[in-house]
Amino acid sequence: GISQVTCTAPVNIAVIKYWGKRDEQLVLPINPSLSVTLSQDQLCARTTVAASADFKRDRVWLNGQEQSVDAPRLQKCLGEIRRLARKRKHKDERAGDLLGSCVHVCSENNFPTAAGLASSAAGYACLVQSLAKLFHIDGDVSHIARQGSGSACRSMYGGFVEWTMGRLEDGADSVAKQVAPAEHWPELRVLVAVVNAGKKAVGSTEGMQTTVKTSALVKYRAEHVVPSRQEDMRQAILERDFQTFGEITMKDSNQFHATCLDTYPPIFYLNETSKHIIHLVHRYNRHHGKIKAAYTFDAGPNAVLYLLQDDVPEVLALLRHFFPPSSTNNSEREFVQGLPDA
Ligand code: DP6
Repeated sequence: GISQVTCTAPVNIAVIKYWGKRDEQLVLPINPSLSVTLSQDQLCARTTVAASADFKRDRVWLNGQEQSVDAPRLQKCLGEIRRLARKRKHKDERAGDLLGSCVHVCSENNFPTAAGLASSAAGYACLVQSLAKLFHIDGDVSHIARQGSGSACRSMYGGFVEWTMGRLEDGADSVAKQVAPAEHWPELRVLVAVVNAGKKAVGSTEGMQTTVKTSALVKYRAEHVVPSRQEDMRQAILERDFQTFGEITMKDSNQFHATCLDTYPPIFYLNETSKHIIHLVHRYNRHHGKIKAAYTFDAGPNAVLYLLQDDVPEVLALLRHFFPPSSTNNSEREFVQGLPDA
C-alpha cells in the first residue's frame, strides 16, 4: 500500500532578524528572532509526501524538478523525523509502521524561489510538517524544521512567532513559540513589493557565515541590541502598539543590512529601488507625524511593508504612483498583499 499526506505552510517575515549561527550543524542562532506569519492564500508552499514499501529509494521533486536527496539539510530533516518515529514506535504503533519504507516528496512554491521571499522557510516548514504527519509524530517539531532552514521553524506557527536561542547543547530548546495568534491584531497588514524576483546574489547561509566570521557589529548586535529589542517587540505586539512595532521593525532591518555592509567583503542586498522605498516610507511617516508604514528587507531587494488595514489603499496608491506597475517589467513591479492568518 501507499500512505500519502499533503500539507501547506505559510511564509514568515521577521521583524527581529535572524542573522548568524553559533552552530552550523544544528542551526543554532546567535540571537533570538521574531516574525509574523502571513496568511496562506497568496504565498505558501505545498508538499505531498508518500511512503510505500514499493519505493526503492527516497526521492524529492521541487517545483516539478527532481533534486538530489543527498542534500545535507534534507537528509537532516528526514533523518530526524525517522529517529523520532523510531523513538515513539512503542507509544504509537503507526509511527513505526512506515519506518521500513522509502518516501517520495513533492514540493511546490506559489512564488519565486530564493528571491529573498522566505521560500526556504515555507518549504522546509512544509516538508517537516508533512513528514511528521505521515509518521504520526505529534507535538512540536520546529527544532527539526530549524535544521532544514533556521527561519523555517517560525513558519510552523501562525500569528506572531519567536524563535528562542536555547541553551541546550543539542539545540532541543531552540524552538519556535507563538507570542500571539493572528486574531490578536486583526488590523495588521503586510504588503510585499516585489522589486526583483530573481535569485539572490549571496544566499543567506553563506552570507551569515561570512558576517559572523568578519563583522564586529554583528557580535555587538547579538549581545547588546537584540535581547532588549526582542522584549520590547514582544511587548509592542501584546499591546498592539504600532508606533513601537514599526520603529523597531525598521531599525532592526536597517541594522541587519548594516551588518551585511560590515561584512568583509561586504554584502549588498538592497538595490536603488529598495532605498527609494525606504526614503518614501520615512517621508510618508514624517508627513503624518507618526509611523503609518514600516519597511523590512530580508536577504534580497524586495520590500515588505507592515501597516494597518485603513492605510492599505493610500500606501498602495503611493507605491503605484512612484513605482508604476507598467514602467518596466510587469513581474518586477507587482505588489502582493498578504494578510496575517485569521
Ligand atoms: C534575512 O533561515 O534562510 O531572512 O538557516 O542558513 O537556512 P539558514 O538561513 P535562513 O535565513 C533567513 C535570514 C533572514 C532573516 C530572518 O528571516 O530572520
